[in-house]
Amino acid sequence: MSNAPQADSDSVNIGDLSDLRDGQLRSFAELGAHGIVVCRVDGQLHALVDNCSHADTPLSSGRLRGPVLVCPLHGSGFDVRDGSVQGPPAFEDVAIHAITETVDGAVVDLTPRMVDADDGVDIGARLRTR
Ligand code: FES
Repeated sequence: MSNAPQADSDSVNIGDLSDLRDGQLRSFAELGAHGIVVCRVDGQLHALVDNCSHADTPLSSGRLRGPVLVCPLHGSGFDVRDGSVQGPPAFEDVAIHAITETVDGAVVDLTPRMVDADDGVDIGARLRTR
């Protein structure tokens, strides 16, 4: 059986990520328009669009500090749990992807979602502008 990601129309099984430890991240550059970065924090997987909202830099080249993924270019942080920006120079959140860890592998919803951190309401990716 192939280890390549297996996709249906809305989601993809990216395989077993049990080797991804707390504080680690992994890039899946082949997924979505900018790739997807998967992070493990407090035992839970989180997935974000792998693109900083400030200047189109892959966040997977950054570092995790607790739940905050720090952009390697100018240092803005994004909470991996909801994509919310934590400080300048970026001022917009990044989109997240739903991810579920199953016995058959981690399954990522390929539709990016924006979450309004102020009230936790998913406002949908298409409502955001730069
Ligand atoms: S490109 Fe990420 S903070 Fe500037």
